[in-house]
Amino acid sequence: MTGPFPATRLRRTRATAWSRALHRETLLTPADLIWPLFVTDGTGVEEPIGSLPGVSRWSVDGIVARAREAVDLGIPVLALFPYTQSGRRSADGKEALNPDNLMCRAIAAIKQACGDDIGVLTDVALDPYTDHGQDGLVDEAGYVVNDATVDVLVGQSLNQARAGADIIAPSDMMDGRIGAIRDALEQGGHANVQIMSYAAKYASAFYGPFRDAVGSRGLLKGDKKTYQMDPANAEEALREVELDLAEGADSVMVKPGLPYLDIVRRVKDAFEVPVFAYQVSGEYAMIEAAVAAGAGERDALVLETLLAFKRAGCSGMLTYHAAHAARLLGA
Ligand code: PBG
Repeated sequence: MTGPFPATRLRRTRATAWSRALHRETLLTPADLIWPLFVTDGTGVEEPIGSLPGVSRWSVDGIVARAREAVDLGIPVLALFPYTQSGRRSADGKEALNPDNLMCRAIAAIKQACGDDIGVLTDVALDPYTDHGQDGLVDEAGYVVNDATVDVLVGQSLNQARAGADIIAPSDMMDGRIGAIRDALEQGGHANVQIMSYAAKYASAFYGPFRDAVGSRGLLKGDKKTYQMDPANAEEALREVELDLAEGADSVMVKPGLPYLDIVRRVKDAFEVPVFAYQVSGEYAMIEAAVAAGAGERDALVLETLLAFKRAGCSGMLTYHAAHAARLLGA
């Protein structure tokens, strides 16, 4: 300090709303949001999900209504997840390859209703289709086998692309699947179908409500630690991202979100590619529980957490609060 006054007063630019707006470094808009939706069978069906208060499974007609709502709100992408009837779940998850499965019907219906006004992102992994709840094929010992699973994931990806999916998002964490899927898409005439890789996906305790939503929680024995990443590791996340980019991923995802913002920032700094994060079901449930307990205010919590993702380097976020946030942002 040179005189009786601080040389720099950082509070000066914070003193008024116009000045705060002028100096804001990070912008959050509805175009940053990807809205995950759960699809179920039937017509006119809405099934609330107990552990995800405010989130429901919708039958295809309801999904189309949500898609129209998303277009109006300025949300650019929907992410779809199916609730598969128990009779269609099997050890080999072959329902994933059925061209008339719930996912394909939902994709086609959205594309028919909204065309390119909205993008459809589809999850690639077998857990909504297996009767054991794992993301891939298991051997006698219960180990999820890599290469045979990749073959099925390739078929699943092609099935979704043929139905009209715009972005294939493999969430399975098998080695080598991005390259195999990219090859198949190119050869199958889907050169412009994107791949957003769940590149750094951790074996997390934050996925519980999602597993309720797709009906795999009760089926899953054990855990997913032999393929999803150890939450202790960060360097390994950079290796995962490097491989997926080399294999042809257009963008990469970090998942879960808020507890892994350090990974988002390191990936962004290291690779300068589009990075997305998934604010997962357990994170959503934590915010809702905090609101219910009177510990915080929903709108502020939602906007602050989403802004934090942008500040950390995200191009966009998957969040179950997408429609609510888009409304708050005044599309
Ligand atoms: C399936 C998948 C999961 C999620 C997205 N895709 C669950 C899991 O890996 O067990 C979790 C999303 C969420 O919790 O919101 N592979």
